Amino acid sequence: MTLRLPDDAAGIAKAAALLRAGELVAFGTETVYGLGADATNDRAVAAIFAAKGRPHFNPLICHYPSAEAAFADVEASDAARALAAAFWPGPLTMVLPRRAACPVALLAGAGLETLAVRVPAHPMALALLRAVGRPVAAPSANRSGQVSPTTVEHVLDGLEGRIAAVLDSGPCAVGVESTVLDLSGPHPFLLRPGGATREAIEAVIGRVRTGIPIEAVHASRGLRSPGLLVSHYAPSLPLRLEATAVAANEALLAFGPPLQGAGAVYQLSATGDLTEAAARLFAGLRALDAEGVALGLTGIAAMAIPATGLGLAINDRLQRAAAPRS
Ligand code: TXA
Ligand code: MG
Repeated sequence: MTLRLPDDAAGIAKAAALLRAGELVAFGTETVYGLGADATNDRAVAAIFAAKGRPHFNPLICHYPSAEAAFADVEASDAARALAAAFWPGPLTMVLPRRAACPVALLAGAGLETLAVRVPAHPMALALLRAVGRPVAAPSANRSGQVSPTTVEHVLDGLEGRIAAVLDSGPCAVGVESTVLDLSGPHPFLLRPGGATREAIEAVIGRVRTGIPIEAVHASRGLRSPGLLVSHYAPSLPLRLEATAVAANEALLAFGPPLQGAGAVYQLSATGDLTEAAARLFAGLRALDAEGVALGLTGIAAMAIPATGLGLAINDRLQRAAAPRS
């Protein structure tokens, strides 16, 4: 049962409490409805992918109540600050380098070193973000493959029963998603056209490169459309999949009752819960790689993960990490 919360102080307080408790809450922005989760809670972020039925871990946009709050988590260049002054709150998303102390779950950024941030121009969304007091990761609030929702009814059509609540924020004024601008490289790059126009952006920071579809940009960074990384994310130790036995000189990425005899073990989910496993996947690979190298182990063995639900995305990610390196 999905709660439909009213557009008032009590509704916002309830939505904020649910988000802080790790639940999923859809909320309106000026562009489209977002499917929100506490971005610092890796289990809640994993639940977004499960609720949407997404086969891949696309990087998500983190929403903040102010530029100051956003820039506490990412490094803002002069161009980013000028754009924030001109466009925020509003339909512009900026991709910027994560700060070392950024508390956002690795899964929210699909393991990338960058993070997409935005301050939405909707009074209810801003009030909600202030009440939550943490960054809120939110892709559009639709099932994977469906179009983005611009009313509460659209949200419930796809997600009724799959999310804790939806905050009724009325129909969305802009109706298309935000413009995604990558400011993390040497030149500003328009990754996705959206609510903020190229002309208006160029009036603030000068020429912006465009014309390359987002899939190509992702591919050039080791992301495959619709959006997953590999290269800098692959562990340094070789990864072997669907292990049914493990050696003492191997580290084990366990799922369910662990194989015995490994030199190091990271448990993705003792109970075989795919949402928990997805939430712990990126952190687990990093931890095993570091521990394995420190202990002089020769590789990582991953136990089989069922190819259902979030297991598709987990297996997709593991296959990339295990793929031969160039
Ligand atoms: O208007 C919007 O942007 C809505 C509302 C809810 O804010 N959100 C939205 O999120 O459209 P989503 O997840 O449907 O789209 C996010 C886009 C994707 O194309 C994703 O690949 C890109 O942003 N993106 C996110 N993080 C990125 C990153 N670190 N580098 C490159 N692209 C990124
Ligand atoms: Mg979307």
